Amino acid sequence: MTYLLKNVHLLEAPEGERTDVLIRGSRIDAIAPQLAAPEGAEVLDASGKTLMPGLINCHTHAYMSLMRNYADDVPFSTWLFERITPIEDSLTNEDAYWGNLLSIMEMLRSGTTAFVDMQMFPRMAVKACADSGMRAHITRGLVGENRGDESAKLRLDQAFDEMEYGRGIGANCSFGLGPHAIYTCGEDLLRYVVELSEERGLPVNIHLAETQYEFDSCMEKHGMTPTAYLNHLGLLDREILLAHCVYLTDEDYALLARPNVHVVTNPASNMKLANGAAPVQRMLREGIQVALGTDSAASNNGLNMFIEMRLLSMVQKAVTKDALALTAEETLKIATANGAAAIGREDLGAVEAGRTADLILINEASENLRPLYNRKASLVYSANGSEVSDVFINGQLLMKDRELLTIDEERVFFETERIAERYR
Ligand code: NI
Repeated sequence: MTYLLKNVHLLEAPEGERTDVLIRGSRIDAIAPQLAAPEGAEVLDASGKTLMPGLINCHTHAYMSLMRNYADDVPFSTWLFERITPIEDSLTNEDAYWGNLLSIMEMLRSGTTAFVDMQMFPRMAVKACADSGMRAHITRGLVGENRGDESAKLRLDQAFDEMEYGRGIGANCSFGLGPHAIYTCGEDLLRYVVELSEERGLPVNIHLAETQYEFDSCMEKHGMTPTAYLNHLGLLDREILLAHCVYLTDEDYALLARPNVHVVTNPASNMKLANGAAPVQRMLREGIQVALGTDSAASNNGLNMFIEMRLLSMVQKAVTKDALALTAEETLKIATANGAAAIGREDLGAVEAGRTADLILINEASENLRPLYNRKASLVYSANGSEVSDVFINGQLLMKDRELLTIDEERVFFETERIAERYR
């Protein structure tokens, strides 16, 4: 399809300046005022709208929206091991498919055009992406002590099967290895992940230094911090996404400041599970690359990146007592361009001719954004995601005037309520 957006405001343009944007196939073809519509193009009047790159949610577990508001106000270990894991173990692949679609609905409606998933249901996140047009970087969660463990072997087989499946059906998905954490994966399995990552050219996605308990037990067991332990195993030499990184020592920062390492911060989840606040302002000062994620809807309890951006900035200002910490400009960059870099997609994350068209339109006729003194500030400090009117992924229009074009939302509500009925 070809789309011509007329009279749109770009985030970087001076106030009052409008332009046209031509989307042809999967790419932004041209940006200039008064472009002529090619034959067969759908022309969209975008006056009164701002065009920006889609937000990239770099850490979630999409099927877990099925557990939204199921286990709240409990300690982290109770939440994970007593409440969430038993449900997880009883879900079927079909259940997970509907959970994934529910999450994709929420993400599209709030302007997210790609997400990084650590998931437990082979193929289901991929299938939900293929059916909806969503983009994702998918990693099958791995647990186990040794590379020979039955569960580790089974999960790895599923991971590779899923990659083949995803490539076969042409989903907007890339893939990586997802060892869950240093407290659920043994040293041998983690070393095997390093080997597989090298052999197959796959990036790694892991939770790191999320809780005080994880930090203390790693010190006790290995005599080093979680970050130093990952470095010791060779994981920090790989392309790697590190979710959380709340507990860092002075020495850890230097280990993380590498071009192949991306920290993904999850402010809502860290607060809700009482894990504290990641030292993001200091990470940026130390040259560490930071992207943003929501974590799952079971620990957030949503997947809304506008809310996450606001929390990121506010929390950093609060904990550093520095009102200049995480400006609106920095925060937007973290949620867009840094996210694109984290998933190895430098063609995303900006509105420029030649880039892949993962784009969102913001309705400026929104009372909570008015008056429009500073668009970037309005997006980080005032928006709530409901202002997102249209969403393009890979040049495909997936939401038009807030109507989802590829998802039957009544069906998703019906199926997810049917599943939830079992757990009430
Ligand atoms: Ni997580």
